[in-house]
Amino acid sequence: MKRIFSGIQPSGGFTLGNYLGAIKNWVALQKDFECIYCIVDLHAITMFQKPEDLRANSRLGAATLLAAGIDPRKHKIMLQSMVPAHAQLAWVFNCVARLGWMNRMTQFKDKAGKDRDSASLGLYAYPSLMAADILVYKATHVPVGEDQKQHLELTRDIAQKFNHDYGLDFFPLTEPLIFGEATRVMSLRDGSKKMSKSDPSDFSRINLTDSAEQIAEKIKKAKTDPHPVPDAPPASEATRAERPEAYNLMGIYAALADTTMAAVAKEHGGKQFSAFKNALTELAVAKLGSITSEMRRLEKDPGAVDAVLRDGSERCRAMADPILDEVYRIVGFLKP
Ligand code: TRP
Repeated sequence: MKRIFSGIQPSGGFTLGNYLGAIKNWVALQKDFECIYCIVDLHAITMFQKPEDLRANSRLGAATLLAAGIDPRKHKIMLQSMVPAHAQLAWVFNCVARLGWMNRMTQFKDKAGKDRDSASLGLYAYPSLMAADILVYKATHVPVGEDQKQHLELTRDIAQKFNHDYGLDFFPLTEPLIFGEATRVMSLRDGSKKMSKSDPSDFSRINLTDSAEQIAEKIKKAKTDPHPVPDAPPASEATRAERPEAYNLMGIYAALADTTMAAVAKEHGGKQFSAFKNALTELAVAKLGSITSEMRRLEKDPGAVDAVLRDGSERCRAMADPILDEVYRIVGFLKP
């Protein structure tokens, strides 16, 4: 059986980057896998979150998955904090993972920055909790972006060491599903930076709650260069770096249209950016319109979103609890 687990952080609003880089793929996977999609609020507090913002963003995350087309009855949309087995298994994994492994994690180094002493202990243990998210369901496949590949390798290392230490073949070695081109959506203001919910400029991103007018304005103001639209995809990272904004808009177009950069270059190469931006706006509004309007409807009905999270989390508890029970028995916890 093929079982998918993936998670998204409720540490801000949700952007076109989240949609094209993750959620759109999650929607497609529903056809062939049993899917569990998690709002990872335990991970979010590894960096301080204002409580009222965290609550709002957790709801917004669930609403985004619903609006994008995840079916909460056939699959599961759940909240990490509502299934205690994640944190419980994470503790066991904290005792399996080695400091040397954790010290290699590049995301921790990036997020902690220079002042490592003031990073939270949770930020350091983040990948161990991520391994627990996945393995508490014995998930076989995890769709992730490039930036999470290392965490998935750690997940396999933890599974392997647990299996080895206890002489069992208990946890699967989970496979990553890495998605192809244009999953890296960059800022509309600076093509060398990832599109981010935390960028101070709202013009750097398209939010999944933006209206058609906002989308149009942001694409119009998006940074480009004086040259026409490239007539070929970038031949290398170096070529891409010469015109990052131009290739970013092409990549976004390709992802929204479900086609390749090469096809977009063939159709639009040589045009002025003003014309290409009009085409991109039309496409973005057409593809995102149903999502953004459904988001706005769900925003007015938080009770419905909460009900989805309660139901999904309850069904997840029923799956995770027996697996955690097994782990507790394997490691020797007494059940008097
Ligand atoms: N760390 C992931 C990210 O920031 C989110 C995440 C948490 C996740 N737990 C997960 C992704 C388990 C995949 C599987 O994108």
